[in-house]
Amino acid sequence: MLEEEGTGERAGFGVLDERGDLIGSAELYDLHPPPPLPARIGTLGVMIGLRSLWGQGYGREAVMALLGWAFGGQQGEGREVPLSRVRLTTFGHNRRAQRAFAACGFREVGRSQAGDHTDVHMEITRGEWLDARADA
Ligand SMILES: CC(C)(COP(=O)(O)OP(=O)(O)OC[C@H]1O[C@@H](n2cnc3c(N)ncnc32)[C@H](O)[C@@H]1OP(=O)(O)O)[C@@H](O)C(=O)NCCC(=O)NCCS
Repeated sequence: MLEEEGTGERAGFGVLDERGDLIGSAELYDLHPPPPLPARIGTLGVMIGLRSLWGQGYGREAVMALLGWAFGGQQGEGREVPLSRVRLTTFGHNRRAQRAFAACGFREVGRSQAGDHTDVHMEITRGEWLDARADA
């Protein structure tokens, strides 16, 4: 992944394929609390731009890389102050996305009705992320 933008409230990255071509984007937004306090919670968004590239593991790999950056590793890479929780919302019918997120450790925490569709809310805590790494 390639850092493209990092502000106090949003951190965006480009997703590159094996050849280094840009194929999508991944970001953490709605970071809060806002500066000057260090953000502890963020919302994740990810997109692989070409439909023909979906289902090949790129999304999962991008999310894992972004979570690694958000939560920091035991070696101290990633954010200076790691997030404690990452959330996301996706459409109920977007099973591919839910499956990719679940494979990264996200769990469903609720559903809500938004107009004519259902939103699925998922999240992962830093503790869950680190526990999964320790078990691996
Ligand atoms: C959501 C998205 C980022 C996932 O990336 P991806 O590269 O397609 O995902 P992956 O290949 O890593 O994983 C997809 C998973 O869904 C499964 N899958 C593929 N097609 C599926 C389908 N039609 N229904 C259900 N699951 C499906 C895959 O088998 C894989 O699961 P597995 O690893 O357990 O086998 C990508 O599809 C995308 O950009 N979609 C459009 C934007 C979007 O919906 N973003 C999410 C909103 S926050």
